[in-house]
Amino acid sequence: MILTFAFVSLFSILSADSESATRYPIIPRPVQLEPAEGEFTFSTETRFLIPKGNADLKRATGSLAERLRVAANLDLKVDEYDTFPTEDTKNVVILGLDDTIENKEGYSLLIKDNQIVSKGKTAHGCFHGLTTIRQLLPPQIESKAPVAGITWSVPRCKVVDYPLYSYRGMMLDVCRHFTPKEGVKRYIDLLAYHKMSIFHFHLTEDQGWRIEIKKYPKLTEIGAWRSRANSLYNENDDNSVARQFIGLNDQYGGFFTQEDIKEIVAYATDRFIVVQPELEIPGHATAALAAYPQLGCTGGPYRVITDWGIFSDVFCAKNETFQFLEDVWDEYAALFPGPMYHMGGDECPHENWHRCEHCKLRMKEEGLPTTDNLQAYFVRRQASHLAKLGKRLIGWDEIMDGGLADGAVVMSWRGTHGGTQAAKTGHDAVMTPMSHCYFDFPQATSNDDNESSERGGFVNPNGRGMNSIPNSINLQLVYGFEPCSSSEKDENVRKHIIGGQCNVWTEHLPAQSNIDYNVFPRLASMSEALWTNKERKEYSHFQDRLNEIIKAYDVLGINYCKMQLKK
Ligand SMILES: *[C@@H]1O[C@H](CO)[C@@H](O)[C@H](O)[C@H]1NC(C)=O
Ligand SMILES: *[C@@H]1O[C@H](CO)[C@@H](O)[C@H](O)[C@H]1NC(C)=O
Ligand SMILES: [Zn+2]
Repeated sequence: MILTFAFVSLFSILSADSESATRYPIIPRPVQLEPAEGEFTFSTETRFLIPKGNADLKRATGSLAERLRVAANLDLKVDEYDTFPTEDTKNVVILGLDDTIENKEGYSLLIKDNQIVSKGKTAHGCFHGLTTIRQLLPPQIESKAPVAGITWSVPRCKVVDYPLYSYRGMMLDVCRHFTPKEGVKRYIDLLAYHKMSIFHFHLTEDQGWRIEIKKYPKLTEIGAWRSRANSLYNENDDNSVARQFIGLNDQYGGFFTQEDIKEIVAYATDRFIVVQPELEIPGHATAALAAYPQLGCTGGPYRVITDWGIFSDVFCAKNETFQFLEDVWDEYAALFPGPMYHMGGDECPHENWHRCEHCKLRMKEEGLPTTDNLQAYFVRRQASHLAKLGKRLIGWDEIMDGGLADGAVVMSWRGTHGGTQAAKTGHDAVMTPMSHCYFDFPQATSNDDNESSERGGFVNPNGRGMNSIPNSINLQLVYGFEPCSSSEKDENVRKHIIGGQCNVWTEHLPAQSNIDYNVFPRLASMSEALWTNKERKEYSHFQDRLNEIIKAYDVLGINYCKMQLKK
């Protein structure tokens, strides 16, 4: 009797331990976690073992191997195996593929005291397993220099895990304010750390064109630079956020060369993050027009915009514009291997089109009764050119106005209605409603914001043509985000809502510290909202894990918002 009692209580302690946020601070929360007592400890003799000749699995080891090398001073060898190693193979991290796992990104992770096994349906799944290890290691693993005196252990456990949605994105606007290459790579690594899957790269805008296009050099010679207004440039401050981006003629700006882009994409690929580039069409195009005025309706002159809003100088529907856009997409295609390209499509005033002879001729030739139809024509032309390049078009939900192009994917930002409508008609949709996903909005109302100077200001919602904007988008609100409502019964809708995304517009976020403050810790909330099924979501438990994860944020030098952390 006594023995039985002892057994039962031990078992219940272990079950309770499955919820131990401090021992297993994994974000997003895994689908299943079975705890066990004991640890696996990394040492100079620890090796990775991968199937012979599997380059993808080798790549999957890269990120964790780098952390162990840099922070723990442990240079793990990667050895290969022909047949799966036995349980007696000691002090190894074994990677393998497992066909019985259903989800493309699914993985299992078994941490024993002398062996770790991470199996995935794909290398991407294996990579997630190693990211889980990264979060289970002491937070100093994120250090940029070796840290002495740490035991590099992870707690024993068994994890079975897979994401709820395949599309888990973050968009970064590098146009309103520029984030240089190293900063972009840093966010990509942080996305991988939170098991996100997409980096949506907002590269072209009224206020700056940020990617070198060889056939059109003026795009970056002229279009990447603007007068210093609005760039928070301070003559007397050496650390001024804008100082390093002041170029020719004392202007604010910057851009990525194609070599930079290749480096960013390679860095992302090593972390299984897809870089999804955007080319804004037909609106938000003033920087391109400043470089090539013949692409606008009035012929200009235009100048790169220095303030924020929606501007009426948009691409003209003349032949030359379509040639230009196809040429740019062609150069994108040589740089971005991802499956979907974003064409923007939002916030395009039509007033110039009404007055323009070229646009009126286009409407007549193509039988387009309204400028909404002309906008839809722009979308269809991009979709068909992208199809030739083997890419799918994705755009903000305005691409539905005037009829949605075949196969186009809708990114629903004006609420979720557009995305749901698109899904009903068999189009894939990504949900990114302003109510939950606009990380340029503050995390708290000014009353409870003790850190407002870090916040980077408040975006005036009036420019967005929306009425019901929340004053703040707090951590818990983001946590409750459901791209597809759990009460949605329509199977077609459920199937076509492929995920969600947070958007980081940078009108009021001039520097990395401001962006950090707006992104963190909300990205943690978002990652769990997009990964973890409803039954496993529990806000209080999330907050407990977050209190551990912020120790890694501290080591990473992330300027996160502390206001809503559990005390
Ligand atoms: C585009 O080019 C074709 C062929 O040269 C021409 O027939 C057509 O009128 C042009 N369309 C516009 C809108 O300029
Ligand atoms: C703001 O700061 C005050 C004074 O330090 C403190 O009492 C209060 O709890 C803080 N509010 C929040 C929301 O952190
Ligand atoms: Zn025109």
